[in-house]
Amino acid sequence: MREVQSLLVTGGAGFIGSNFIHSCLADRPEVRVVNLDKLTYAGNLANLQDVERHPSYRFVRGDIADRQLVQALVDELNPSAIVNFAAESHVDRSILDAAPFIETNVRGTQALLDVARAKWENHLDQHLFLQVSTDEVYGDLGPTGSFIEESPLAPNSPYSASKAAGDLLCRAYYRTYRLPVVVTRCTNNYGPYQFPEKLIPMMILRASRGQKLPVYGDGKNVRDWIHVADHCRALALILLRGRPGEVYNIGAGCELQNIDVVRRLLTQLGKGEDLVEFVRDRPGHDRRYALDCRKIATELGWRPTVSFGDGLDETISWYAGHPEWIENCLTGEYRSYYDANYGRK
Ligand code: NAD
Ligand code: TYD
Repeated sequence: MREVQSLLVTGGAGFIGSNFIHSCLADRPEVRVVNLDKLTYAGNLANLQDVERHPSYRFVRGDIADRQLVQALVDELNPSAIVNFAAESHVDRSILDAAPFIETNVRGTQALLDVARAKWENHLDQHLFLQVSTDEVYGDLGPTGSFIEESPLAPNSPYSASKAAGDLLCRAYYRTYRLPVVVTRCTNNYGPYQFPEKLIPMMILRASRGQKLPVYGDGKNVRDWIHVADHCRALALILLRGRPGEVYNIGAGCELQNIDVVRRLLTQLGKGEDLVEFVRDRPGHDRRYALDCRKIATELGWRPTVSFGDGLDETISWYAGHPEWIENCLTGEYRSYYDANYGRK
């Protein structure tokens, strides 16, 4: 078991990163956590308001691609591990403009890897670089089967291509320099603090306001859903016991067509299906993702604990209980993105 005394968490002001920091400070309050986040449109310090004065927590605003800054932070903290959540994370935005995705997801990851390599060179076995990645790097799956960790990478969007590039850099730094790296590939997350450009929070917010719900194509694309808390638990286990050089798939085996997710939300919210509006499909839209997660189950004993029904109810209640958080997200930037993405014909 690895000893974890301090963590450099990047992208901790986003959806999964902030959930991870909350669980980390709750479960292991003695572990020092430095959160490095650029605060892009997706980063929101309100996600971490309740821990901002926690004695083990510190926030630093900055870019993971800024080597000098990363170097200074790593020198100061000498983290047991780096957990890299920082990313441009939305497929539709990557279709509008791929450049920021390459900058952060590829160049930023490389800067972090370089700094970690230089710092940990003489005591590699005591550290871990945890790269938080996605099932989307495997690309499109036919109607049956699931991806294993050895499946070939075949990304289809600029987002997934940039994440695959980051994954491959991690692999190369392990093979070439023995940098202790683990790559995790998780399915679609949902839960509190998710920015309302992604399917579930967007549909919750729009349906509760009686607005149309833009479902791409025929709505039959399949995603494999996991509650963010289960993802965070898997990451915490990997920090302690994940084997360097390995990839771990993380998923809850909950495959659903998008239209079924939307229907469930409408039922829970007491709204009618007339709100659904089928819109032009996303270019290059992957039809189906599904992961085989036997490796993390057998090696680390991880299992998902939150059912989709319970998780969805809890998520709906969370959004209903946080109107100010929502208003904060729906800024001018969000509106201009919405017009650019959904205005296309
Ligand atoms: P998010 O978009 O909610 O948050 C990303 C965070 O990274 C934001 O706080 C943003 O400000 C920060 N950031 C962006 N560029 C940065 C930079 N250059 N330097 C420092 N900080 C920067 O994303 P998320 O949904 O929380 O995803 C986190 C990670 O998990 C990503 O790497 C993503 O690829 C991966 N992932 C997400 C999902 C999902 O369903 N959301 C599933 C699997 C994997
Ligand atoms: P999303 O939440 O963007 O995650 P990802 O593309 O990373 O899987 O989308 C989930 C699914 O929902 C995906 O198949 C695209 C679809 N979708 C819509 O049909 N309408 C929308 O407005 C959005 C944002 C997504």
